[in-house]
Amino acid sequence: ADTVVFEDSLAASKAVAKEIAELIKQKQSKNENCILGLATGSTPKGLYAELVRLHKEEGLSFKNVISFNLDEYYPMEPDSVFSYVRFMKELLFNQVDMLPENIHIPDGTLSKEEISAYCNAYEAKIEALGGIDLQILGIGGNGHIGFNESGSLQNSKTRLVALDHITRVAASKDFGGLDKTPRTAITLGVKKIMEAKRVVLMAWGEGKSNIIKASVEGPVTNQVPASFLQEHRNATFVIDKSAASKLT
Ligand code: F6R
Repeated sequence: ADTVVFEDSLAASKAVAKEIAELIKQKQSKNENCILGLATGSTPKGLYAELVRLHKEEGLSFKNVISFNLDEYYPMEPDSVFSYVRFMKELLFNQVDMLPENIHIPDGTLSKEEISAYCNAYEAKIEALGGIDLQILGIGGNGHIGFNESGSLQNSKTRLVALDHITRVAASKDFGGLDKTPRTAITLGVKKIMEAKRVVLMAWGEGKSNIIKASVEGPVTNQVPASFLQEHRNATFVIDKSAASKLT
């Protein structure tokens, strides 16, 4: 994996949006779908804003885009203000011309018994489409990618996971308290992330600098799932100066 450092998150987000737009257009010229793996959280907000701008001001169409989001809290109703469904609709899907049937986000309303078959089907859909062309990732303070927390294996599948305490503390600001924060989530497994043809992990700010150092320069270890990307053929850590500040 390589690392590209930008002056700030705005410049970085615009560069990633440009890469995605080029890929979408290249696929359009060949009459092919573009399979995107998408993340939520604060990190990709600028990216989605720029993609919306490219749609509204520069005519970028998303009609050939098929998306798979990394994760959703469990349990979670799609119309909840906390759901990743709601987040994605507001920041991207409702503002571009994506076809509703091309949008996939893990379902937070399933019964426990339904989850494993659902997760297998989620992966099978990705496989049937030829895999993810470009996967967007953020990174948790503990090095999680998607909700693959510390200890997740490199070949882990899409599944229900227990959220780490540190992840729940970070999320509790949105949920209005730790007691109201979900304990579990459904996440795409590490294996499907590693199988993506291209991976872009984004991180901004001083608060991410230690975990970026561990992920980029530390040993490849399941204690820091983002470190697995060191072994990916086509992964880039796109970070701002503050997130890069601890790199040697
Ligand atoms: C969200 C996701 C998570 C976040 C990570 C960073 O879909 O998969 O791994 O990317 O927790 O969150 P932010 O961007 O809010 O710092």
